[in-house]
Amino acid sequence: MKKVITYGSFDLFHEGHYRILERAKALGDYLIVGVTTEHFDRQRGKLNLVDSIMTRIENVRHTGFADEIIVEDHVGQKVEDVQKYGIDTFVLGSDWEGKFDYLKKYCNVVYLERTPNISSTFLRHDRMRLIKLGIVGTGRIAIRFIDETKYVSGVEAVAAYNPDEISLSNFAVNYPVLTFSDYFDEFLNEIDAVYIASPNETHADYVRKAILADKHVLCEKPMTFTYDEAVEMYGLAHDHGVVLMEGIRAAYLPGFQQLLTVATNGSIGDICDIDACFTRIGGKNTREMSDVKYGGAFMEYGSYTMLPIFKLFGTEYEDIRIDSILGEGGIDRFTRVQFLYKDRMATSKTGAGVKSEGQLVISGTEGYIIAQSPWWLIQSFDVRYEDPDKVDHYDSPFIGGSGFRYEIAEFLGKINKTSGTDYKLTSQESIAMAKVVEKFMGIRRQQQGW
Ligand code: CTP
Repeated sequence: MKKVITYGSFDLFHEGHYRILERAKALGDYLIVGVTTEHFDRQRGKLNLVDSIMTRIENVRHTGFADEIIVEDHVGQKVEDVQKYGIDTFVLGSDWEGKFDYLKKYCNVVYLERTPNISSTFLRHDRMRLIKLGIVGTGRIAIRFIDETKYVSGVEAVAAYNPDEISLSNFAVNYPVLTFSDYFDEFLNEIDAVYIASPNETHADYVRKAILADKHVLCEKPMTFTYDEAVEMYGLAHDHGVVLMEGIRAAYLPGFQQLLTVATNGSIGDICDIDACFTRIGGKNTREMSDVKYGGAFMEYGSYTMLPIFKLFGTEYEDIRIDSILGEGGIDRFTRVQFLYKDRMATSKTGAGVKSEGQLVISGTEGYIIAQSPWWLIQSFDVRYEDPDKVDHYDSPFIGGSGFRYEIAEFLGKINKTSGTDYKLTSQESIAMAKVVEKFMGIRRQQQGW
């Protein structure tokens, strides 16, 4: 019996899928079809699948060509499957020409001509309203962000706003978008949603204006400096029926979701302590190293270190203590925030101009999780136990070094109401972070006398 295998996401099942299955089946006697999990697709950078895995499997089954359907969920599985099932011919469409030649060691590899003018991407575009995105601020982060929008279907960056005309025109050289340096309202008129990546102290004002104009908002952290303002913003967004999301990238990465699951599924017992550290020695003139009022270690990195704490312990701590080591002009070089919960504690350590081991350690009664720097761009972590020889390693790679596309996909999913709840970062967690920032700034203000 000649066995053939082929793989795909088979999202929004279309004629191209039907035709490749038909031809693959004709190449042998028994056809195995591997359907990818959503998790695997997300890891390989394919976001915004519309159909669930059950629907995609059902659609493949309906064709009647598949003798067996399997699920593909990790890199390297194709080699395993070819050996396990004794495959004679591996088939994929011509868009993958050459990519799987390494399998020729084990079987025939055939690339079949793709059916022209149809793809899942095309159908997704077709059924989704294209969200026109504007970008406020045109610095380093905005550039990394805009590069990643290309990998998420259903969104297009069309306009940029920056009162600093030089930065704006430098940006526009590489990104052909409408530019605005003056009238914010006119900029808002061109878009459905906005990504705010301007200096920290300008975030809240832009957020408010955009919501009042009924635009969806994704704002870089920290979104606001006070508890009241954070509450006001989420209330406003609710009243205007728009999405408001704080851009804490780590929250949206697949590996961070996996870490939260492992932390709470009993693998390490009851969690007693969380220690989250993020430090960087930046250039002298960077905001984090020099802006006494709105820069410094905690303002820049505190959102990341507070994230695992609030996700795992909640926002109702019993006590909080903030200590900093100050540098020139009173900027915080190193800040430690200690949270006391009932029977639990947590520490956030941030440094700008101080270097330390940037780890995330979650300690439990049965073992601990350790995620190494840069855990805020998490790709893997370990679970360790009393027995030093026992280590469980988890890999959760993602595509695109900056990880922005996962945040963008989440934002879009919320706008299009396809991504369920707020689980990844709730408004309550975001508001709790603003409350800590407010307390931190109060202490700094007193010390600096402003
Ligand atoms: N395929 C094809 N002709 C098309 C589209 C897909 O022959 N017009 C093939 C692919 O080459 C692959 C299989 O169908 O072997 C499953 O592809 P999949 O990636 O699920 O479909 P696409 O439409 O290419 O999806 P996307 O646009 O999301 O990449």
